[in-house]
Amino acid sequence: MIDVILGLQWGDEGKGKIADYLTPKYDLVARFQGGPNAGHSLEFEGKKFVLNTIPSGIFRKTTLNLIGNGVVIDPVRLQEEIQRIVNECTDYKERLLISKKAHLIFPTHRILDAASENAKGDQKIGSTLRGIGPTYRDKIGRSGMRVGDILEVDFEKRYKKLVEQHLKQIEFLGFSDFDLKAEEEKFFAAIEFLKGHQLINSEYLIHKMISDGKKILAEGAQGSLLDVEFGTYPFVTSSNTLSGGVCSGLGVAPKHIRKVYGIFKAYCTRVGSGPFPTELDNELGESLRQKGNEFGATTGRTRRTGWLDLVSLKYTCMLNGVDELIMMKGDVLNGFDELQAATHYKIGETTTDEVPSNLCSTEVEPLYKAFKGWPTETSIDNGFDAMPDSFKDYIDFVQSYLGTKISVISMGPGRDETLVLN
Ligand code: GDP
Ligand code: IMO
Ligand code: MG
Repeated sequence: MIDVILGLQWGDEGKGKIADYLTPKYDLVARFQGGPNAGHSLEFEGKKFVLNTIPSGIFRKTTLNLIGNGVVIDPVRLQEEIQRIVNECTDYKERLLISKKAHLIFPTHRILDAASENAKGDQKIGSTLRGIGPTYRDKIGRSGMRVGDILEVDFEKRYKKLVEQHLKQIEFLGFSDFDLKAEEEKFFAAIEFLKGHQLINSEYLIHKMISDGKKILAEGAQGSLLDVEFGTYPFVTSSNTLSGGVCSGLGVAPKHIRKVYGIFKAYCTRVGSGPFPTELDNELGESLRQKGNEFGATTGRTRRTGWLDLVSLKYTCMLNGVDELIMMKGDVLNGFDELQAATHYKIGETTTDEVPSNLCSTEVEPLYKAFKGWPTETSIDNGFDAMPDSFKDYIDFVQSYLGTKISVISMGPGRDETLVLN
């Protein structure tokens, strides 16, 4: 049986915190897409960790963690990430499994990412420059290389052949700001390091676990509005971030998926370019950014901020088949006199509650419902019923608008700052 947790907005909803929080209920936590463009933050016992490729179950000693076939892996970044957690997780090697079918990010994929962004000028995606797009491009183009290939005798020969092609593309894009030799040294050292890990045919492991009645949590990366099919294309990432991606990203049939948990922030953020109808490019937005500490977990980039957009949230609940909602960062809205949430878009003379197919080229005016704010100090100690009425009104409206119940509300980054609703 597989449950899924994934982000319903543009990423950074707080997936890492919730995956870590839910992990004790599961035998395996698996990443099914994305790569080191993700930055998932976890806080416990006064410590803070940011994970990029490693699943967020790694800090719980009884849980296995799988980097699935749908993920793209940069060996250099993975090695750095492991070095950051190894003191906390001395036993990590026994609990970290890596699919042999996951594709490898080469140094030239990263350089190509930078070259492509550079060539796009003011149409830049705002990529994390981790090589994600070029690696998935090679995967779909059937020229990529996978983790299992590092064990083959002709690995270096095939590596060189692909790099030759990349260098031609980089030259064509007129990009020369890189030192490939230095990058390659780190890459091949990291390949040797990777060989010392459990590289497996993970689809067999998952199916064995399912038939043994074990519980699996699939941990999404990025967010539904960054999905390559249904996100704000072309300002998206290059993978299937929706619940459908779990099947191809882990090698499981839809019938094995039990529950989909959709995670959203009580407001909205976005990093990088692209449409953001409820964006607050003003003092209110700045106040959300400061209170919510909205700066990238790995890149440190400033996150754009805005009010909750229920129109797009309803869309992503539909696309993912969300069973239960988890609302994050409720505490960041503490102390506002008034809050707003968009319930409709006005496009020309038409009012709609649907996301247009071409959000990038459509002038959208969000229509808001206003809510009374709640006090600066809130305590979760006495449960949801004891929360301020205006807080409960906000939650009730969101649930009824989305037709889906909110089962958990996060009121701080720590494991214990979590309110579970009946
Ligand atoms: P992810 O990519 O979805 O895992 O999210 P990130 O880790 O990139 O960003 C979420 C940020 O919010 C992290 O710094 C978390 O520590 C923090 N965070 C998570 N939940 C809460 C919450 O309920 N309240 C506050 N104030 N911060 C939170
Ligand atoms: P987590 O898992 C927020 C955004 C980038 C850029 C676009 C494409 O931490 O939520 P890419 O590097 O994939 O080519 O970038 O997607 N992006 C994210 N934004 N959180 C993420 O991951 C993101 N991963 C990619 O900012 O706009
Ligand atoms: Mg993040």
